[in-house]
Amino acid sequence: MAFPLVSTLGEYHGRRDEARGDPERYWLRCAGALDWIAQPTHAVDANGTWFPDGRLNASVNCLDRHLETHGDATAMIWQGEEEDDVLHLSYRQLLAQVCRMANVLRDHGVAPGDRVAIHLPGVPEGVIAMLACARIGAIHVVLFGGFSPEAIADRLADSGAGVIITADVGRRGAKRIPFKATIDAALDHGASLPIRHVFVVSVTSETIPMTDGRDRFLSPLLSVASALCDPEAMEANAPLFLLYTSGSTGKPKGIVHGTGGYLLWAAYTHALVFAHAPGDIFWCTADIGWITGHSYVVYGPLANGGTILLFEGMPSHPHPGRWWRVIEKHRVTGFYTSPTAIRALMAEGDAVPERHDLSSLRVLGSVGEPISQEAWGWFHATIGGGRCPLADTWWQTETGGIMISLVPGAIEARPGAATFPLPGVTALLLDASGTILEGEAEGMLCIAGSWPGRALGIWGNEAHFHATYLRPFPGFYFTGDGARRDRDGYFWLTGRVDDVINVSGHRIGSAEIEDALAAEPAIAESAAVGVPHALKGQAIVVFVVSNGPAPDDILSRVARAISTRLGRYAAPERVYVVPDLPRTRSGKIVRRLMRKIASGDTEGFGDLSTLANPTAVATLIATVRPHT
Ligand code: WT7
Repeated sequence: MAFPLVSTLGEYHGRRDEARGDPERYWLRCAGALDWIAQPTHAVDANGTWFPDGRLNASVNCLDRHLETHGDATAMIWQGEEEDDVLHLSYRQLLAQVCRMANVLRDHGVAPGDRVAIHLPGVPEGVIAMLACARIGAIHVVLFGGFSPEAIADRLADSGAGVIITADVGRRGAKRIPFKATIDAALDHGASLPIRHVFVVSVTSETIPMTDGRDRFLSPLLSVASALCDPEAMEANAPLFLLYTSGSTGKPKGIVHGTGGYLLWAAYTHALVFAHAPGDIFWCTADIGWITGHSYVVYGPLANGGTILLFEGMPSHPHPGRWWRVIEKHRVTGFYTSPTAIRALMAEGDAVPERHDLSSLRVLGSVGEPISQEAWGWFHATIGGGRCPLADTWWQTETGGIMISLVPGAIEARPGAATFPLPGVTALLLDASGTILEGEAEGMLCIAGSWPGRALGIWGNEAHFHATYLRPFPGFYFTGDGARRDRDGYFWLTGRVDDVINVSGHRIGSAEIEDALAAEPAIAESAAVGVPHALKGQAIVVFVVSNGPAPDDILSRVARAISTRLGRYAAPERVYVVPDLPRTRSGKIVRRLMRKIASGDTEGFGDLSTLANPTAVATLIATVRPHT
């Protein structure tokens, strides 16, 4: 049984009203699109917990259940960095690989509920490892390849992972990225981490240091492992994975997603937004280290029985049309990427995509940041040939999958608008005092009630989940985003209203950067803010107050402290050394003013008399002005 169809406005309204009117009935019916070991008898309980008595296995839903109807159809096309490096795996073959990996993990003592860290470049083993964990009930923790060793050590410690799956190196164009060496450095840093095994995928034949008793190459283990592996029957609310993301505190949070509700949400939203049909070849360009990679590279499209495309390389290597070549060569039908990538590719000029046959494309998607009308228009016209619906999809790590998006056929697009909440999602705008705003309005974006994809919590810190998302506006889930609703009800996202910066779609907390700098002796104090950036969406600007006379190399110390603690993805665009940061009388630094000044906007500050040190503002303006 499939998800209810939504391809006209009438059907959209019908589903939306059904989901509102009788959520139990609607969601139990949708749950019928998955294969359950124990069919749920309830959709949601009073605490917003989904399918409380259901049992299932996510890997069975993504693999085994498709064998009967299309076991020999391609589940995964892998396009390697080298043009000729291509792999096609049928559902049957992918299942066998997943079972082998699952058996290796089981044979090394991995039990249901154990955490397994996955730190891999864009190789098929990433997807295989995630599904292998799901098969044996282990909780995967995918760690983004760009994290520094310290950032990895933090996440290993927080998750309590006992096993890591990594690679010797990653390939990025001609460059080699040292994956295993990064793990070695992370484990040196976190010497007391309870890591029992490090499994290494060989991407190249280079020799790398291996620690006896801890490190093993995977391929000899996989080749002798059985290709059959009994799946674990998991409770719907058993965690499927943890994924670290940033918030307004310095400590990244391990967002926990469950098995049943999450999988349903990934599959439901993929089916709806990308109008999934048999034979589709879906390419989501996200790294599996982010939630987009979890939901739309792996779980959504595979649960729906589609073909996924996994690309190891970069958009513009060895030529600026590399992505378009991938679409042309593999006849991609659904293409889901980020505004950052679109802006960069747009800058290469129209002649580049025009050299490629993109006629296989049927539907396009964008995610991660607001998309400008210009970028939307270019993507739609030049890549989609004006004929493919383009969905700007708004959601978050915490929501598990898409929440506000165009539904092809049902909703008429407005370039730059995420349009309408999906059936089953009630999105609202509140003002700062928590009053619900009606009609045309701008406010804080909140979601009423629960939805199946909502995160179960924050790993090891239930109270923090409540405090962050549910307490600010009691009765609602607070997203941290601002939005505007136009007179026709379309939602337009305006950006974060908290201290989270979005650089090229990567979420970074101001406090994370400030904490990294607090460890640097030359720096007394700092503030990080996000400013608009033509290519990255936002860029990081850091203000630092030096501890005594500023050393000559203070700027490189700032850069080094951040890349050591977090990774190079968080590198600041500009750093200013200032004598003082503007603060309130109660001592809180006022990032809002710094953001404005750093963006080159030096008028209309309002009443500064509430500051403890109003003169700091003039000094900041004088420092920043020559650079903006
Ligand atoms: C934050 C979530 C959603 C998966 C990728 C990022 C911003 C996301 C949009 C969009 C405007 C967007 C929001 C959100 N965001 N999609 N279509 N339009 N803003 O997941 O790392 O959890 O980041 O990304 O600010 O809160 P994430």
